Amino acid sequence: VTYLRVKIDGKMKDFRTIWMENSVVKMIDQTKLPYKFEIFTSKDHHETARAIKNMVVRGAPAIGAAGAYGTVQATIEATKTSSFDKTLKKYVNELKNTRPTAVDLFHAIDRVLDQVRNGTTNGEWIELARNEADEIVRESVYACKRIGEYGNKLIKNGYKILTHCNAGWLACVDWGTALAPIYVAHRSGKDVFVFVDETRPRLQGAKLTAWELEQECIPYAIIADNAAGYYMQKREIDMVIVGADRVTVDGSVTNKIGTYEKAVVAKENGIPFYVAVPMSTLDFDITRDEIKIEERSGNEVLYVYGINHREKFNEVRIAPSKSKALNPAFDITPSEFITSFITEKGIFKPNELKKLKRKKSEMISTC
Ligand code: MRU
Repeated sequence: VTYLRVKIDGKMKDFRTIWMENSVVKMIDQTKLPYKFEIFTSKDHHETARAIKNMVVRGAPAIGAAGAYGTVQATIEATKTSSFDKTLKKYVNELKNTRPTAVDLFHAIDRVLDQVRNGTTNGEWIELARNEADEIVRESVYACKRIGEYGNKLIKNGYKILTHCNAGWLACVDWGTALAPIYVAHRSGKDVFVFVDETRPRLQGAKLTAWELEQECIPYAIIADNAAGYYMQKREIDMVIVGADRVTVDGSVTNKIGTYEKAVVAKENGIPFYVAVPMSTLDFDITRDEIKIEERSGNEVLYVYGINHREKFNEVRIAPSKSKALNPAFDITPSEFITSFITEKGIFKPNELKKLKRKKSEMISTC
């Protein structure tokens, strides 16, 4: 079941965030939203790698899917060369060297590669790659749907919920992580209101979360990133739900920059702080000190990007001409600030995550 319905030329149409047709990967262009709804077509693994790096597609599970499909493209392209193994390795490294923090990208690429290794002919390699990528995507959609159902149980009628960044269906293949419980609650008839952190500097909250909530007719307000504490103190926020890019076994959560601050202020005000996360985002192989936090261009801080009154895309500098900026894309929230994790396997306290520790093969959802 596809979740997203968008009105185009007066007609409702169903979409997923990303999908593959033959050797072409198609994705909703997230750099154009909320102004334009456009599909970006990536014809080879180079373009898919660039789309991940430039955030045409973004959000942990969505870039996992992009990595999986990109590996299918890389496999197809490598069969046309004289050195399949060497070429595939090179192409896959290009996909991996795009964004370092979200673990889904690496899990998905390695899963497809593991399957390709079982083949012996061009046809087998391509078929194995395609089947595994489709399976990853199918599991991802199922996981997000289950997260929505489990998370809905935590939401009471009338709840006001804060979210940070965009962890809706645009960040996944479908449904979303942090927004999935809100969608299920709303569809089951509960009144909910969402406080949307604008999420500087890329404004995923103001641009993407707000747009998603509008498609679903859920009441919301965008707030400046530094306003959440004010509303928490006034008891206007009942709960916080965020997504994650990588969760380590000690329950530390790597997510969009600013998440840590929200978690600390939520704890100070006795407000529950939930992290909605599929199993594919759990990383039991490294410790939190080993997580690589992506540093993006300072220009993302120095300029704002939007559309002017003539509907032309525009970049405007907001700082003195000689200013430099620092731009870490993620931060790490220690487990003591997290109430529970909402997963496709149920709801777990941070100290219960160890229970989910499985070998990769056992992590596959039973759909
Ligand atoms: O830099 P982005 O936009 O890819 O960061 C995305 C986030 O931090 C999301 O909150 C996270 O991926 C969870 S999405 C389901």
